Amino acid sequence: MRTIPKTAIRTAVFPVAGRGTRFLPATKASPKEMLPVVDKPLIQYAVEEALAAGARRLVFVTGASKRAIEDHFDSDQELEHMLESQGKSDLLNQLRSVLPSYASCIYIRQPAPLGLGHAVLCAQPAVGSEPFFVHLADDLIKSDVACLAQMAEVYAAKNASVLGVEVVPHKDTEKYGIVAVEADRSATSRVKSIVEKPKPEKAPSNLAVVGRYVLAPAIFEHLERIGRGAGGEIQLTDGIAALMGEEAVYAYRFTGKRYDCGSKLGYLQATVEYALGHPSLGKGFKQYLKGLDVEAAAGGRPARATPARRKK
Ligand code: UTP
Repeated sequence: MRTIPKTAIRTAVFPVAGRGTRFLPATKASPKEMLPVVDKPLIQYAVEEALAAGARRLVFVTGASKRAIEDHFDSDQELEHMLESQGKSDLLNQLRSVLPSYASCIYIRQPAPLGLGHAVLCAQPAVGSEPFFVHLADDLIKSDVACLAQMAEVYAAKNASVLGVEVVPHKDTEKYGIVAVEADRSATSRVKSIVEKPKPEKAPSNLAVVGRYVLAPAIFEHLERIGRGAGGEIQLTDGIAALMGEEAVYAYRFTGKRYDCGSKLGYLQATVEYALGHPSLGKGFKQYLKGLDVEAAAGGRPARATPARRKK
């Protein structure tokens, strides 16, 4: 991933306090953000993207059963000594690069999962009065330039909040915050209205907000004031709608491919495509897929048409 380091945005907020019900039972005792895509958990991809966009202060809004996230970003001296004594320097370097020394982590507890807007509000003491990124780790985005870095450039040009958006099928508007924009075809356009999870027949467009935001600190005042919205939750979308009453908000169609890793199908798609692009596993995995008898595997039968010969 190419980086653009000259952003002025220093803080990234990762709301990770959701219950992850779409991914049960896998997420019963461990966080969905720790699900690995090939060999890294989702939250590590998230942190790498934020660092590539220039963030240095990483704020995790956590909830029940999220200890594993803190453990992942803590150094593990015992494991490092073991790898060192075994001469496994590659693994040791990978482990040490999980969190570079110039980044710091702050953990804030969301007392109950009252919604994404509430989770963002919980981060206020750590964010202060600066613009900040919000990154939802279950939306994994593959791109040449980190999605948040693209958005930081838009923020720098417009000096206003930016929402990462993409076109979704009309039938899916109920799953997203949906925006209407001034210039439908531009990559960057001012938002005219935003609504949370509208039914397809009521949606103002099919331009959906995905899990990337650059937000002005004024959002906090609005999040404090708004009540519960769709689904009985304090919605970030409603806070943004209130913010738009006072200042401009832009929608940005990022360049890259998004995988909805909060859903089982999206997660599987990400796993296959990231595995195919993996520097050391990609070749072998591609060979495996080419030889796979898809119909047999789908029928629950052994997947290879011709069993591999045993080595003598
Ligand atoms: P989702 O809408 O994906 O909800 O939240 P969820 O609970 O994680 O998953 P499902 O829908 O039950 O399967 C979007 C993001 O907002 C965070 C989640 O962790 C996720 O990153 N979130 C949501 C919170 O941090 N707190 C909340 O109260 C709600």
